[in-house]
Amino acid sequence: MKKNKVYVGLSADILHKGHINILKTASLYGDVYVGLLTDKAIASYKNIPYLNFEKRKVVVENIKFVKKVIPQNTLDYVENLNLIKPNYVVHGDDWKKGVQKKTRERVIKALKKWSGKLIEPKYTKNISSTLIKKEMSNIITSPENRVSRLKRLMNSKDIVRILESHNSLTGLIIEKINIIKNKKTLEFDGMWSSSLTDSATKGLPDNSSLSFSARISSLNDLMDVTTKPVVFDADNGGLIEHLPFLVRSLERSGVSAIIMEDKIGLKKNSLFKNQTGTKQDKPKLFANKIKKICNTRQSQDFMVIARIESFIVGKGLKDALNRAEIYSKAGADAILIHSKEKTPAEIFSFAREFRKSKNFIPLVSVPSTYSKVYEKDLIKNGFKLVIYANQLLRSAYPAMQNTARTILKNSRALEADKKIIPIKEIINLIKND
Ligand code: SPV
Ligand code: MG
Repeated sequence: MKKNKVYVGLSADILHKGHINILKTASLYGDVYVGLLTDKAIASYKNIPYLNFEKRKVVVENIKFVKKVIPQNTLDYVENLNLIKPNYVVHGDDWKKGVQKKTRERVIKALKKWSGKLIEPKYTKNISSTLIKKEMSNIITSPENRVSRLKRLMNSKDIVRILESHNSLTGLIIEKINIIKNKKTLEFDGMWSSSLTDSATKGLPDNSSLSFSARISSLNDLMDVTTKPVVFDADNGGLIEHLPFLVRSLERSGVSAIIMEDKIGLKKNSLFKNQTGTKQDKPKLFANKIKKICNTRQSQDFMVIARIESFIVGKGLKDALNRAEIYSKAGADAILIHSKEKTPAEIFSFAREFRKSKNFIPLVSVPSTYSKVYEKDLIKNGFKLVIYANQLLRSAYPAMQNTARTILKNSRALEADKKIIPIKEIINLIKND
């Protein structure tokens, strides 16, 4: 007699006894087909899993209760259910509430078409991948795993959201802060090690006076206490002959991407209005730098992002597009098209043209001056990575100035207390256990 088919949707990032309970129960009803959520499906409602699809698949298909594993490309089950037409779907009863409520209703509706049934064993309390992950926040991921996370995120999400970090504490804010919006958990995907804010924090101008070895030393402090991917702002990368050493240090610390800008000479921050004296590199010479990184990186997942400064130096669209072609052919993984305009019009016109090219690669935006742009519009225009490049320093600095002034004005600290966090909170900010 043909056995019944039982469908179970799983992420199975960190397997625990709750999963085993579900799979065991499911196997009592027939052959178990696991719809394993792809990275993309998981990223649609929470952070991407620690382990990629292939690694999770190997584990699940070797569980004795499982007959077959197939990919589930969306949080929604219906596509796979129509394909398999299972007699049963088994899922913990926890999805009656929360983000999966609608998904559940659609499963019930789909099953009705062939009189399938939904079985909902009682949810195993106090255990879930999300809870385990919280407990694991002290475990720092290995550099290799960390390096590859940015590429995985870019392959799984509509847009990857990065925020500037200028020290370990700001890194921890980026690591931990999240909000619930439209029933989805929103958080930052990683950190931007900015030359501007790293230099400013150390009282130096953004003109490469802060050496790479000093940058990497504070970077390592950040890497020690955080796990999310880091994108490193390497200015113009320095001398081509020195690039392999920089890349080696970055990869060893677990950095996921280097962004290198096509300028030469004494460095000036790109957001200065007056760019006289700023020179762009010859496209071919800059392409050689990209090739150098591609040839010396240890991991293909370590991304090289070429930053085009044509709009910054007033050269316009044609020059930017020509460079994008050359840099892409040289092996760049993505293009940062920089702008200091008040609207995203020029970067969108660049995107429109570059998207027609067979050498198109994902685009990166730094919306510092055109901060009114919404992420949804960046997505529509082909951008895969958005870098909020300086906002944490810009918010911290005036707050500190205000406190300093308030103490001076009142000749005591009481008045300042009202606008700052209690001592208890700062003592407990970093847990010691
Ligand atoms: C930085 O944050 O250092 C950057 C972006 O490179 S910008 O300040 O716009 O040059
Ligand atoms: Mg910079």
